[in-house]
Amino acid sequence: MIRLCPSILNANFDELPSEIAKIARVSDLLHLDVMDNKFVPSFTFSFERAREIIESSQLPVDAHLMITNADKEALPYLETKAASITVHFEACEDPLTLLTEIRKRGKRAAIAIKPGTGIDEIRELLPALDMILVMTVEPGFGGQKFMSEMMPKVEAARKWLDEGGFGDTWLQVDGGVNLETIATARRAGADTFVAGSVVFNSPDPEGVIETLRHLAASVK
Ligand code: DX5
Ligand code: ZN
Repeated sequence: MIRLCPSILNANFDELPSEIAKIARVSDLLHLDVMDNKFVPSFTFSFERAREIIESSQLPVDAHLMITNADKEALPYLETKAASITVHFEACEDPLTLLTEIRKRGKRAAIAIKPGTGIDEIRELLPALDMILVMTVEPGFGGQKFMSEMMPKVEAARKWLDEGGFGDTWLQVDGGVNLETIATARRAGADTFVAGSVVFNSPDPEGVIETLRHLAASVK
């Protein structure tokens, strides 16, 4: 199954309900990039603002928390309606405890790794994971170039999931996914795709999402 998760990082933050409405019909989840100006140089939303977006979204929300001290700072998100919560491996002291807690609240529990983090670092967390996010750009900004050199990590994760019987665990890529790169990520084994600037910089966001889905599905 292929899932498309538009990121609103490049949407107009002052018009979010209408921006989200543009993509809701054809998207699987809404990818919400929370940046704290510590883990990454940018700042997007306070928890209060993120909660408003999550609670009012017509789509289930995939919250990508690029925040330091996630063991503590991610906890308020467990009280929201977010369908999936992703924390960064690099930002957790005790990822296993946090992931277990996320799952206990009935949410999908996910871990993200930055380009400099090896995939083997998260292997022992597999039984606690509902999704692995392999970042294909350095987190912090939309509109960067897709790092195809991350594909060996996606391939390794795909192999673990298939061979380990983790059929319900999703494999996501985030950063630089567009009409040229989505097939590369799909071929490596990703099934869940974040796309930001390619969607919201287009006059036809729905059409772009449908084309991305078609391109991913066409990979044999
Ligand atoms: C980067 C964010 C991404 C980003 C994707 O730190 O996590 O979700 O918004 O945007 P594009 O698709 O423009 O790379
Ligand atoms: Zn993201």
